[in-house]
Amino acid sequence: MKMFTVTVSEIVDEARDIKSFRLVRSDGGPLEPYSAGAHIDVMGPTEVVTQYSLCSPPHRTDSYLVAVKRENGARGASAALHDRVGVGTELRISPPRNLMSVVPGADHHVLVGAGIGLTPMLSLAFALHAQRQPFDLHYFARSREQAAFVDLLEESEFAGRVHLHLGVTRADQYQILERALSDLTGASHVYTCGPEDFMARVRTLAEPAVGEDHVHVEHFEAAAPVDTDADVPFELELDTGEVFEIPVGASIAEVLEANDIEIDTSCREGICGTCVLDVLGGTPDHRDNCLTVGEKKAGDRIAACVSRARSPRLIVELP
Ligand code: FES
Repeated sequence: MKMFTVTVSEIVDEARDIKSFRLVRSDGGPLEPYSAGAHIDVMGPTEVVTQYSLCSPPHRTDSYLVAVKRENGARGASAALHDRVGVGTELRISPPRNLMSVVPGADHHVLVGAGIGLTPMLSLAFALHAQRQPFDLHYFARSREQAAFVDLLEESEFAGRVHLHLGVTRADQYQILERALSDLTGASHVYTCGPEDFMARVRTLAEPAVGEDHVHVEHFEAAAPVDTDADVPFELELDTGEVFEIPVGASIAEVLEANDIEIDTSCREGICGTCVLDVLGGTPDHRDNCLTVGEKKAGDRIAACVSRARSPRLIVELP
């Protein structure tokens, strides 16, 4: 995985347990432009790589902004960013990667973020506003104290499109979501990020109106574990003609690496999309949380770090 060094130029306490980090290239050069909804891998003091959405306006290439919530998982990576990183600290990051972007031509876009799940919605909102596309942004947080970027949202040029839902009960949350998603058509698109059960609720409410391909979900967790008892070995054929057996208990990525065939990986949990390969033949058994419903149905891409095959042989193209 290609990573480069950045320096933290600013740290802001955005909310309880949420800090934002502004990152600039350590060599002083401009950063790669990115499209709204992108995320980067960040390697902090623990050397554990974690993914964070870019939440600055996408056209800005002088710096990237990420917001980090202190959490218990990822072997203390977020706590280390909170506690051991200051202005001037150098971090390693990957170039931006995009798993969720604005779909052109929609009659309406509805962005629904909960908690730290606001962050990918922010860059989407900046982009939709710049493109003069019709959108609404709904942001759910437990309280104003725990809600990041509220001042920025209230002072933004698109403040009239922002709907804050702070401290609402679970029952109220359902009704608010129902209302927010009630006037959609088959030409509308819905984008969501937040806890898994929250996103499942958004999906359930939105899909009947817009169709499952028009609901875009950004996960920051691995998919629920599947029962692996029925797993069987399968053959992996590369576009070069080489064939490898993928045994039970090993991933495509692991077998390729063991045979000195390099593929980029990062999270190795099916979240980040770094290891995704094109499928030329066979049927994938998707176990990731990074491909969209449409991509999984099409079966022409596979996350090599977690997914397997339903067919005896899978043919893939190396990047
Ligand atoms: S390495 Fe992240 S999805 Fe495979």
